[in-house]
Amino acid sequence: MILICAVVFSGLAAIAAHGQSQSTITRAEDLTVLGQSVTDEQITLGRQVYAQNCASCHGANLQGQPDWRRRLSNGRMPAPPHDESGHTWHHSDQDLFDITKLGVDGVVAGYESDMPAFKDILSDEEIAAVLAFIKSTWPERQRESQARVTGKDGGGS
Ligand code: HEC
Repeated sequence: MILICAVVFSGLAAIAAHGQSQSTITRAEDLTVLGQSVTDEQITLGRQVYAQNCASCHGANLQGQPDWRRRLSNGRMPAPPHDESGHTWHHSDQDLFDITKLGVDGVVAGYESDMPAFKDILSDEEIAAVLAFIKSTWPERQRESQARVTGKDGGGS
């Protein structure tokens, strides 16, 4: 009887461990940003940078502004979510870095946008950290898809 319990228990433990590896919160060592491995410290820094600089528009839970697909009355777009429901994961690491550093109009000349340029506010390390944090929240499908886009962009995966 004791033996059977032990077998059942270790089976459950294996299932639980498998379930965890599918979790949406990715382990740092599974991720890269701009071709560099991500560390836990970087994700912790990125979470703080996000709360202080991005959450006011992109949402405390990365959910974006309400009705984010509908153009505002000033003709500009609201802030999209950074979670899997948005399109942040459609862009390569390098594009995300450039948009954050230079603003959308810094990447697409003449495009009017409410997305600020962070080049005078955040260091390159802080921008990489905030991207690491955002990427760490994506489920596997979005992470893999974005890694492929990044690979094609020549910026590492
Ligand atoms: C003042 C509001 C505001 C703040 C603060 C802000 N953003 Fe944005 N962001 C926007 C808006 C609005 C857009 C949509 C731009 C457009 O399409 O015109 C956007 C778009 C983006 C995009 C492009 C997403 C895509 O899928 O095309 C990225 C990446 C981004 N922001 C990153 C950040 C990061 C990282 C921070 C914090 C460091 C941040 N933003 C802070 C308003 C903001």
